[in-house]
Amino acid sequence: MKQQVGIEAITVAVPRRYVDLGDLARARGVDPAKFTHGLGGVEMAVAEPGEDTAALAATAAAQLLRSRRVDPARIGMLVVGTETGVDHSKAVASYVQGMLQLPRTMRTFDCQHACYGGTAALNAVAEWIASGAGAGRVGVVICSDIARYGLNTAGEPTQGAGAVAMLVSESPELLALDLGVSGTFSMDVHDFWRPLGRREAVVDGHYSIQCYLEAVSGSYRAWRARALGRDIIRAGGLPSEQLARIAYHVPFCKMAKKAHAQLRRCDLEDRAGRALDAAAEAEEAPRAAASFEAQVAPSLGLSARVGNVYTGSLYLSLASLLHREAAALAGKRIGLFSYGSGCVSEFFSGVVGPRASETIATAGLDRVLSERQRIGIEEYERILTAPPDRPLGGRPPAGGFCYAGTEEFRRTYVAG
Ligand code: HMG
Repeated sequence: MKQQVGIEAITVAVPRRYVDLGDLARARGVDPAKFTHGLGGVEMAVAEPGEDTAALAATAAAQLLRSRRVDPARIGMLVVGTETGVDHSKAVASYVQGMLQLPRTMRTFDCQHACYGGTAALNAVAEWIASGAGAGRVGVVICSDIARYGLNTAGEPTQGAGAVAMLVSESPELLALDLGVSGTFSMDVHDFWRPLGRREAVVDGHYSIQCYLEAVSGSYRAWRARALGRDIIRAGGLPSEQLARIAYHVPFCKMAKKAHAQLRRCDLEDRAGRALDAAAEAEEAPRAAASFEAQVAPSLGLSARVGNVYTGSLYLSLASLLHREAAALAGKRIGLFSYGSGCVSEFFSGVVGPRASETIATAGLDRVLSERQRIGIEEYERILTAPPDRPLGGRPPAGGFCYAGTEEFRRTYVAG
């Protein structure tokens, strides 16, 4: 078993266009405060048909390999987490392999379980390295998705799109994972799903929030028991406060606030041995709000401006957090919560590396956002209703990729 395995580097790719959520609210006749304060969003990425899941994945991965000067011969595994793949059979990982001309010796595949697919991919690669099977090679994990609920739906302001690519290795400069300590929780529910043949997800929105919160309790308690057993945290106080920060899966920013309150409630109720009464609730409310600002808010910058990127959402939170606070977090343990509807969840943890600040700087995250173009609601609606096989055209960004069309059922891509 290798001593240290985890995330060495992260890069992010997003579509070139976005809408302002205030504009969307006004167009829908809704108070903008509902989208900005009620849901916690600011902007939302809009993917045109050329920016499909495979193109976004390849763009993020190309930047990862360039920024770390990775010798492709060292890559033994390429795994894509996605729930919006481009084919029922062919893996997005194969498309990425082709676009980036990666070695044929790699193991390539996709992982699917709603938004949890990225964490399944990360586990597959990290455990492959930790077991020694990787024999010194590195793995690439890509989480890539386009979140769609459709125009004029309750889910509309919680859409988004993007890809997060991660280099996983024995040099975890960003985050050394606490392997074997994670807590999992799953159940068979219809909270959010996408029946075959549909582009838009079907969702029981308020129920999905309840399922997510139940999953927080289940997986956090399981992690906590293991973490106590391994002396990663100490008994006494609130165990969750021993984590310097907690990054959550973020379908919309307010969800992270609800999740964090739930996690603290687990600690408080388990310590008291009973449910919180009204007085305890009143005492906890300002503490939970302050704890959210300190432990969670620093991870929400990218999600607030990109929206839900399904499998990549948790890793967008991690990238945001490190972008903002890596220097202060060096050597500290953080928690991570992954949720995939249907559902499965995992609470896990890791220690931020001493060089995380220099490493995350190479991802150029400010530039990724600043190069985007704001579009109006008419243009957004035109893009969302465009046929999926008709890219808008135009060259992809330098170093990036775009879907160019389909010939005899074969998808083709162009490089920028
Ligand atoms: P809704 O029913 O339109 O909104 O849809 P609401 O009425 O519940 O209001 C939302 C919040 O805004 C509430 O705050 C309101 O009070 C507040 P809360 O009470 O919850 O704290 N509000 C206002 N605030 C300020 N000024 C105002 C105002 N009006 C209202 N004027 C819903 C919301 C999230 C249900 C919807 O957008 C939706 O269905 N989204 C998609 C589903 C989703 O994101 N679920 C999250 C959990 S499941 C998950 O994370 C998995 C997922 O990522 C998929 C996967 O795993 O693949 C989705």
